Amino acid sequence: MKHLFVLLALVGSAFSNHFTFENPTTPGQYCIILDANVSGTIKYLDKLNKTQAYDFVINNTSTSSVSGLCFTTHLNQTAEVLNIAFYPNDITPHIGKPEPWNLTLYFGNQTGKSFELIDYTLLVQFYESFNATANSTTYTKAQGAELEWAAEEKNGFKCSSSGLSLTDGSTVQFKDIKVVAFAMLNNDSFPETQTFEQCKLDIRTSDIVPIIVGACLAGLVVIVLIAYLIGRARAKRQGYASV
Ligand SMILES: *[C@@H]1O[C@H](CO)[C@@H](O)[C@H](O)[C@H]1NC(C)=O
Ligand SMILES: *[C@@H]1O[C@H](CO)[C@@H](O)[C@H](O)[C@H]1NC(C)=O
Ligand SMILES: *[C@@H]1O[C@H](CO)[C@@H](O)[C@H](O)[C@H]1NC(C)=O
Ligand SMILES: *[C@@H]1O[C@H](CO)[C@@H](O)[C@H](O)[C@H]1NC(C)=O
Ligand SMILES: *[C@@H]1O[C@H](CO)[C@@H](O)[C@H](O)[C@H]1NC(C)=O
Ligand SMILES: *[C@@H]1O[C@H](CO)[C@@H](O)[C@H](O)[C@H]1NC(C)=O
Ligand SMILES: *[C@@H]1O[C@H](CO)[C@@H](O)[C@H](O)[C@H]1NC(C)=O
Ligand SMILES: *[C@@H]1O[C@H](CO)[C@@H](O)[C@H](O)[C@H]1NC(C)=O
Ligand SMILES: *[C@@H]1O[C@H](CO)[C@@H](O)[C@H](O)[C@H]1NC(C)=O
Ligand SMILES: *[C@@H]1O[C@H](CO)[C@@H](O)[C@H](O)[C@H]1NC(C)=O
Repeated sequence: MKHLFVLLALVGSAFSNHFTFENPTTPGQYCIILDANVSGTIKYLDKLNKTQAYDFVINNTSTSSVSGLCFTTHLNQTAEVLNIAFYPNDITPHIGKPEPWNLTLYFGNQTGKSFELIDYTLLVQFYESFNATANSTTYTKAQGAELEWAAEEKNGFKCSSSGLSLTDGSTVQFKDIKVVAFAMLNNDSFPETQTFEQCKLDIRTSDIVPIIVGACLAGLVVIVLIAYLIGRARAKRQGYASV
C-alpha cells in the first residue's frame, strides 16, 4: 500500500536551495541531502515590550554554510544533524561581529523508519535593527508539533509545502522540499532513480483528480442510462402507434 504513494522523482530541482552534508569519515559519500526553498517568521519582543514579527528567507546558498554530523546521539537515539548557518534575507549586518542564524535539523532512525525528523532548533541573532530585548534566542520545536518528514527503506521524503512550528508562534516553511537522511549516496544530488514518499497534503491533493474523474464517469453512466430509457420509452410508444 505504501508503495502506491512512492513516486518517481523528477530529477534536479533547479529552483530550490540545495543543502548537503558529506560524511567526513567517508569522503565522497553524503548522508543528508535537502533541497527546498526555506522561509520563515519569527516573533520576538522589542524594547517597548511589543511583539514583533520578522519574515526571513534563506535564498542564497552561497551566503549560507552547511555543517552537520553523520553520526551522533540526540534525545537518546542515534541521530544525524544538518546545520544551516545563514544571514536572513542575505542581510549582512554592519555593526558588531555578524553572527549568522543557525537552523539545525535532527534526524533519527528508530521506530522502523529509515529516517525521520525528530527535532529542530533555530538560533536567531537579533541585530541592532531589530531593536529586540534579547541579543539572541534559540527557538525550539513547538509543543505538539507534528513531524511528518520520514521515509522507509531507501526512499526520500518530499512535500510541496511543509512547515515546522517553533516556540513563541514562530515557524519555518519549506517549499518543494526533498530530503533524505541516513543515506549513503555517492553524489551530492539525488540520483535519477531516487523515489520519494509524499506528505499527507500532497496525497490528499493527488486524490482529488481521481475523485473528479470518477464522479464524471459516474455522471456519464447515469446520463447514458437515462438517454437509453427515454429512447426505449419513445421506441415503445412509436411501436404502439405503428400497430
Ligand atoms: C525558490 O526560490 C527561487 C529563487 O530563490 C525561485 O526562483 C523559485 O521560484 C522558488 N520556488 C518556489 C517553489 O517558491
Ligand atoms: C527601539 O526601542 C526604544 C526603546 O528602548 C524606542 O524608544 C524606539 O522607538 C525603538 N525603535 C524602533 C525603531 O522601534
Ligand atoms: C518590559 O518588561 C519587563 C519585564 O516584563 C520590564 O522589566 C521592562 O521595564 C519592560 N520595558 C518596557 C519598556 O516597558
Ligand atoms: C549570493 O550571494 C553572494 C554574496 O553576497 C553573491 O556573490 C552571489 O551572486 C549570490 N548568488 C545569487 C544566486 O544571487
Ligand atoms: C535519556 O536517558 C536517560 C537515562 O536513561 C534519561 O534519564 C533521560 O530522561 C532520557 N532523555 C530523553 C530525552 O529521553
Ligand atoms: C552555528 O553554526 C556554526 C556552523 O555552521 C557553528 O560553528 C556555530 O557554533 C553554531 N552556533 C551555535 C550557537 O550553535
Ligand atoms: C533574498 O530575499 C530578500 C527578501 O525577499 C530579497 O530582498 C533579496 O533580494 C533576495 N536575495 C537574492 C539573492 O535573491
Ligand atoms: C540507525 O543508524 C545507525 C548508523 O547510522 C545504525 O547502526 C543503526 O542500526 C540504525 N538503527 C536502526 C533501528 O535502523
Ligand atoms: C548583548 O550585546 C551587547 C552589545 O554587544 C552587550 O553589551 C551585552 O552584554 C549583550 N547582552 C547579553 C545578555 O549577552
Ligand atoms: C552526480 O549527479 C550529477 C547530476 O545527476 C551528474 O551529472 C554527475 O555526473 C554525478 N556525479 C557522480 C560522481 O556520479
